[in-house]
Amino acid sequence: MITIPILCLFSACGSGEKLDFPPGFIWGAACSAYQTEGDNFKNDWYQWEKINSFIGTPAGKAVNSYVLYDTDAKLVKDINLNSFRFSVEWSRVEPERGVWDDAEIEHYRQVLTSITSRGIRPFLTLHHFTNPLWVMNLDHQQVPIADLGGWENPETAVEFAEYAGKLAREYGDQVDYWLTINEPIIIALSGYLYGLYPPGERVFSPGQITQKVIPVMKNLITAHALAADAIRANDLVDADGDGRATVVGLAESVVLWDPYPPDDPQAQAAARRLDQFYSKNLFDSLTAGGFDDNLDGVADDTRTEWQGRLDFIGFNYYNHWYVVNIPLLPAPIAALPCISFRGLDLSQLGVGCPAQIGEKSDMGYEIYPEGIYRILKDLSGRYTVPILITENGIATTDGEKRAQFLADHLRWVHRAVSEGMNVIGYIYWSLTDNWEWGTFTPRFGLYTVDYQNNYERQLNRGGEMMGEIAECNCLSLGILKRYPVRK
Ligand code: BGC
Repeated sequence: MITIPILCLFSACGSGEKLDFPPGFIWGAACSAYQTEGDNFKNDWYQWEKINSFIGTPAGKAVNSYVLYDTDAKLVKDINLNSFRFSVEWSRVEPERGVWDDAEIEHYRQVLTSITSRGIRPFLTLHHFTNPLWVMNLDHQQVPIADLGGWENPETAVEFAEYAGKLAREYGDQVDYWLTINEPIIIALSGYLYGLYPPGERVFSPGQITQKVIPVMKNLITAHALAADAIRANDLVDADGDGRATVVGLAESVVLWDPYPPDDPQAQAAARRLDQFYSKNLFDSLTAGGFDDNLDGVADDTRTEWQGRLDFIGFNYYNHWYVVNIPLLPAPIAALPCISFRGLDLSQLGVGCPAQIGEKSDMGYEIYPEGIYRILKDLSGRYTVPILITENGIATTDGEKRAQFLADHLRWVHRAVSEGMNVIGYIYWSLTDNWEWGTFTPRFGLYTVDYQNNYERQLNRGGEMMGEIAECNCLSLGILKRYPVRK
């Protein structure tokens, strides 16, 4: 592990030292198929966006990346990133159960070639929220395809592993870094509690979490474990020549949960329960093999087939939310997460959540850079595998605000690295603006997309700065001066 003297790295950064990152640090940008490719008709989200009035605008052509993939790979290269995270659309390559579409498989081979031929390392995500219709069909009248019933069915996990094995055989010569599932907890919560994602269950009955959400989570954990085995068995080629043919992980959403009131021991216990439920249960299961059902800090469901299935901990960081202890709420959480999301802000509702303060993104999320460090510290104290930031980003139309966001967060990432935490990289969400699950309004891109003008991509100030950082593998003095630490 690389250790760098701490003194000149964080606190004294204003006093004349640039902040170097370790050699080989992963600098990347991310995207996902449904949000960028366009014309994806064979999955549940395509149905979902038609039957829900809260979906403002359908994805349509998204940002036309199915056509413009080579342009996108060039954009990655133009800003010196060494890595690109993208997803393969399962419903394209396997439109029917057990039937592979050779033309689509070839398409993604071309996508990969456009990435690897530029010396960029691909991070291939297998599942980013969308399911083929034969896995989850929301409208049997329109589309008479039998489905598996989505992630409630253990067969879906088995089928997912088949798909993973197939991709590992097809693309193993170009891919070493595999991410199985994007944000399992969001699939489980948004699909089976909040009703925001397919299949759209919005059931706040006391048993919904234990009887539905947790079993779905366990099935997703099993799906990852089976897929990891399939990838390890089928990708035997070390594509980047570093001595390893496969590095398998996933990207889980991690929220920094703080108790409210901060000094209240019961609120502190509530925050621990929520954190265990939200992300630790998944990471614990896939490292040590144990899932803590009742959130008392001790694993209840232990399975060796889950154990040792993560080569790295990958996490997406967007939110800092408070937690209020409310024993009357359903066990095992018995607490209220003070979320602010898509116009819903619990701090406004007089339910005990603190008022939100500080600067926000266009998603309404508090901008809390220190959170990334606190999460890194927490995860690296608990797990021995390396940690990768698989997503972090800001929705804003202001390139300078994005640049400041990057400087602020990367100072904290640097601090984590300088303290010896095994952080291997930072992947920004997202490369270009794209479809944000119902709307094109939030702009996350390092490149701004002109939807009126052939989806032209224009580098913004945030993207420019990401390029400077990746090129120097550091936060330069110029950047540190232009974007000073803010109180
Ligand atoms: C998801 C992305 C999404 C991003 C910004 C992440 O949770 O993986 O699909 O666009 O957040 O909201």
